Amino acid sequence: MNLATNFFDYPLENCLMNASGVHCMEVSQLEELAASMAATYVTKTATMAPRLGNPEPRYRDLPQGSINSMGLPNHGLPYYLAYLEKAAEKEPQQLIFCSLVGMTTSEIFAELKMVQESSFNGFTELNLSCPNVPGKPQVAYDFALTDKILAEAFTFFKKPLGIKLPPYFDLAHFDEMAEILNRYPIKYVNCINSIGNGLVVDLATEAAVIKPKGGFGGLGGAMVKATALANVRAFRERLRPDIAVIGTGGVTSGADVFEHLLCGASLVQVGTQLHQEGPAVFQRLLTELAAIMKEKGYQSIAEFQGKLQTL
Ligand code: SIN
Repeated sequence: MNLATNFFDYPLENCLMNASGVHCMEVSQLEELAASMAATYVTKTATMAPRLGNPEPRYRDLPQGSINSMGLPNHGLPYYLAYLEKAAEKEPQQLIFCSLVGMTTSEIFAELKMVQESSFNGFTELNLSCPNVPGKPQVAYDFALTDKILAEAFTFFKKPLGIKLPPYFDLAHFDEMAEILNRYPIKYVNCINSIGNGLVVDLATEAAVIKPKGGFGGLGGAMVKATALANVRAFRERLRPDIAVIGTGGVTSGADVFEHLLCGASLVQVGTQLHQEGPAVFQRLLTELAAIMKEKGYQSIAEFQGKLQTL
């Protein structure tokens, strides 16, 4: 079974990677991802300066997924850039993604300038969708602000850039965001970040299960799969063909990976399940994906990718 695929000019052994935030905060974790069966990986979304994030408990596994309000704990962009520059020196052909976020537009531009001036030439993922910073709305729900940020960013940023989007729930919003994105030389969108501001209650204690923001947090895992697939499909149908879509959300099995690819994803990210199972999850998902492809008579991902049928 051939699970190989391409992401732009990068030939990859398969289509799997971690979702930013999971198993990618420490260099030791990034090294484990590099050694795993994931084809590529992304660093923890970084701010310019290190952040401790929100108070604990800030993550809870649930029967159908997870809730988190991590609040972007990270070691700061220079920490991740140093790792990425070193990794690229060792293996120049290797694809790695650098995720970043800003608390202000000037922080975003300062970070992009730092990446532009670095020797890291992989893909940068601008996270416009974190729901977990108190007092900071998800940028990509503000269409005018997103447009303004992209307009300014592309005046100086010349390296490959992708955008991590929040989930949208209305066809008019897919139309509006796609129209903005199609005007810029972005390389990909990543759909979806967690579904923001869910509330999970512990019946026994009659309390919220996480501490930050009164218990409100981003939902991930199995319960978000249908929303993730809808976003992958909606953007695949609306974006220029040269803008790739990365599918993230609800991947617990090879069947879920297959569905993301069928809806138009070029790569598929694993978040909650990676948190629960560790990097061995990639081998299991690939074995399951290969079994499904064999059963359906597909020899390669290209044969079914993006080919969802409608009734
Ligand atoms: C977090 O650190 O709060 C999660 C990152 C995100 O949702 O973008």
